[in-house]
Amino acid sequence: MPREWDAHGYDTLPLPHERWSLRALSHLLLTGGETVLDAGCGTGRDTAALLGRLPGGRVIAVDGSTAMLDQLRVRLDGRTDRLEIVHADLTQPLQLPGPVDAVFSVAAFHWIPDHDALFGNLAAVLVPGGQLVFECGGYGNIASVIHAVDSLVDDVPDVWNFADVAETDARLRAAGFVNTEVGLVTDPAVFPDDDLLVRYLETVVLGAHLDRLRVDERAAFIRAVADRLPAPVVDYVRLTVRAVFAGQPGPPSKVVRSRPAEQQ
Ligand SMILES: C[S@@+](CC[C@H](N)C(=O)[O-])C[C@H]1O[C@@H](n2cnc3c(N)ncnc32)[C@H](O)[C@@H]1O
Repeated sequence: MPREWDAHGYDTLPLPHERWSLRALSHLLLTGGETVLDAGCGTGRDTAALLGRLPGGRVIAVDGSTAMLDQLRVRLDGRTDRLEIVHADLTQPLQLPGPVDAVFSVAAFHWIPDHDALFGNLAAVLVPGGQLVFECGGYGNIASVIHAVDSLVDDVPDVWNFADVAETDARLRAAGFVNTEVGLVTDPAVFPDDDLLVRYLETVVLGAHLDRLRVDERAAFIRAVADRLPAPVVDYVRLTVRAVFAGQPGPPSKVVRSRPAEQQ
């Protein structure tokens, strides 16, 4: 299973995820009776929004963190009649109550190292003609943060998959998706004060790095990363995707993995 998150801390922060979510939701075409999978749903902000757009439909909320799902249950207390909550790892084939008309996801898929497997797992639960709409960190994402971490740690763990447009498009087509619309959007998050930046880095960005440090080393590490950023800004680049599942896998595609210049 993937790592646990500080779900309560997550929900107390101002999250750029809210605007990423609105942008992604605007690309999801719904009539109101569909079943939608919220993949990597976290604490359920988008699950709630989807339920609001689906008066005659259902949402299946999937996440690998029990803490995030517990927080989702609190948020959606009393609204679970059209909701299934599934604790599952998106890197594995999904066992859902039934097929879904759409898969939606915000800020989760860059945590998944193998996008070929991920897209295959999502295709396997979609009806033919079903939509895939997601956004996540893309090629060049948080380059300043990566640079700061690299300057502090010798053996930096490779925890993110920031894919580019061409490789994502090829992977989607190989998994059977058509009408693909894939883009990269530069969308920095500016923090009004330093304390907020530090809390944000700790809770949202660098949790997987902190897991590898002793508890007494963590505060100094986060402080050092924040001090090395050129401004109180997290320099996000978002991978935005809309695609339709054709009903069967496409021809296999050999994808050559690219890396941001500073990682080559
Ligand atoms: C940054 S949070 C985003 C949560 C929510 N979508 C939002 O926008 O607020 C990333 C979420 O992806 C989930 N996640 C990461 N890897 C996963 C995996 N392999 N399987 C299931 N969930 C995963 C995490 O547990 C976490 O809740």
